[in-house]
Amino acid sequence: MSIKDTIADEFDAFSANYTQDMIGCVPYYEILMSHFKDHLPKGFKPTRVLDLGCGNGNATATFIKKYPKAHYTFLDASKEMLNLCEQRFNNYSIEFVNTYFQDFDFRSSSFDLVVAGFSLHHCKTEEKQLLFKEINHTLTKGGVFMCSDLMIHKENTDHATLKENWKQFVQRTFPDGAKWKWLMEHYDEFDKPDNLKDQVVWLKEAKFDNIDVKVYENYWGHFRAIKN
Ligand SMILES: C[S@@+](CC[C@H](N)C(=O)[O-])C[C@H]1O[C@@H](n2cnc3c(N)ncnc32)[C@H](O)[C@@H]1O
Repeated sequence: MSIKDTIADEFDAFSANYTQDMIGCVPYYEILMSHFKDHLPKGFKPTRVLDLGCGNGNATATFIKKYPKAHYTFLDASKEMLNLCEQRFNNYSIEFVNTYFQDFDFRSSSFDLVVAGFSLHHCKTEEKQLLFKEINHTLTKGGVFMCSDLMIHKENTDHATLKENWKQFVQRTFPDGAKWKWLMEHYDEFDKPDNLKDQVVWLKEAKFDNIDVKVYENYWGHFRAIKN
């Protein structure tokens, strides 16, 4: 598979075998996705949920049965990914928004829960900083923001080690090397991960409290932040 010109085209193509590719290409993928369900605060009952960069809906799928009456907004730049969500979830109140985060109107107090699974690393540093503020703005009081992702800047001194461990992981499922080659072309072109400690600072600057890092294994992590 060759890489495409835009995020939308790239993930339209990636959608074909998405979940299996993620399990084989992303260390801890299933564990980090399970935290969207396991890390919800006790007694929390969201009525409006936003899935940012929903892909085929794997993040929301972990908890949608728990909140069958909530209204869900699935947002993604890739039309094909949204089509997969449309086929996957029936009998729920759902809105599909085919746009880039940068063009979405984050209205005040519109959601109780915002989730982002492996999507924010596609944003540049300054876009993440702005997004955290917009996410805070769009959450209701007591609202929850949860994120699972790769959290290391490419200039971090551990980045070369991360890549070496990552390569070994990918080659266990895809030993011929072609998938790793494609993945690194994708990574160079589309991925802009940031360090966890920087993201925690930006969350505080965006006025989130109660920032809780559930897992952080070899730079793959999950955090939850609450708007009080
Ligand atoms: C790696 S996938 C993650 C999908 C899913 N959330 C998951 O955890 O498996 C990243 C998704 O984010 C979307 N995406 C990336 N950058 C985006 C942006 N700036 N605006 C909207 N969608 C974006 C891509 O189209 C893709 O579907």
